[in-house]
Amino acid sequence: MQQSDSSAIIALRGWHPAIARAEAKSMFPDSNLSRTDSRRLLIADGESDWNNADLMSGCECVLVGGGIAKWKSIEDLLELIPSDAVNDMAVECWRHEGKIPVATKDIERQIGGLFHDKGSTFNLENPTKRFGVVLDNSAGNVAWGWMIGKGPGKHGWSAMRANKRPFFRPVSLEPRLARAAVNIAAGTSDGFVVDPMCGTGGILIEAALTKRQTLGIDFDPVMIDGTKQNLEWAGVNAEVRRDDATRFELPENLAAVVVDPPYGRNSQGDEKLLEDMLANIRRQNNQCDLVVILPTMAGGEDLDEEISTDIVLPGFNIEAAFGIPVHKSLGRTLIIASASTQG
Ligand SMILES: C[S@@+](CC[C@H](N)C(=O)[O-])C[C@H]1O[C@@H](n2cnc3c(N)ncnc32)[C@H](O)[C@@H]1O
Repeated sequence: MQQSDSSAIIALRGWHPAIARAEAKSMFPDSNLSRTDSRRLLIADGESDWNNADLMSGCECVLVGGGIAKWKSIEDLLELIPSDAVNDMAVECWRHEGKIPVATKDIERQIGGLFHDKGSTFNLENPTKRFGVVLDNSAGNVAWGWMIGKGPGKHGWSAMRANKRPFFRPVSLEPRLARAAVNIAAGTSDGFVVDPMCGTGGILIEAALTKRQTLGIDFDPVMIDGTKQNLEWAGVNAEVRRDDATRFELPENLAAVVVDPPYGRNSQGDEKLLEDMLANIRRQNNQCDLVVILPTMAGGEDLDEEISTDIVLPGFNIEAAFGIPVHKSLGRTLIIASASTQG
């Protein structure tokens, strides 16, 4: 299937395709996204700002001016790709989900040849334009197009692991999850991203790295100090202050609240704390978008689909929930919610 001019293909990273889809929906709000039979390829109809791909946790890149088809052979693929003379380009081919039996280097060489014959010039180190080809073995598809975004394997999440920060606690959220949560909640809205229980600052760092105004609250002075160290280490600015999540004042221009509260250890106390925090937010802003991340028992995770949850967030409508594996005995649930219209 060739794509029309207004559509693009979104290639997702493999960590959690269902969360990556939710992130894409928030970050490409002017496009209609639909799934393909490949778990990590989406079709986007209608143009959004594709440069948002660079900010995303779950998006390898957007492929524009391309298409998607069942893999048959290199010859068939070459027939489908329209080539022109393009200056300063490179071709990059990578795999999703196992191995379609063809060498990525062969594809790169032969597609390069196609463009070369039209008079294109190449720059393999630092090209201005990159033509991407994804071999997706989950459904035997090949997708291609001009890449916007970093592409596969260059996301640096391992270098950004939370345990490399000067102030680390086992509660620290991993950056790829915190980044996805911030993007899902705030999308392309202006205004503050607020974490009212910021701990070591995992959410704040991702909000600030994506150039959002950022506010963190925690009532533990050790966390406030540690968060400040971590923000400085990450080279970003955020407002951080010691306060109580159940009482603090929200900024007027709010994009979203993203929070990972203590939960489940002292279950009644933790539930009450979560409810009081939500009531404080809801009292001050009746249009608030929210992402809450809660620890759960392992076993409720699903990397491909939304899950159902019996968690209730008073004053908020739950729009979707996702189950995330952490380790043998721990999972997390990420919940997307928005302030409910009634009281
Ligand atoms: C699970 S940790 C957050 C971890 C954080 N997402 C990170 O990446 O480090 C929960 C935090 O809530 C804070 N907290 C608990 N009750 C609070 C309250 N009433 N007001 C503000 N912060 C509170 C704790 O001090 C703790 O730092």
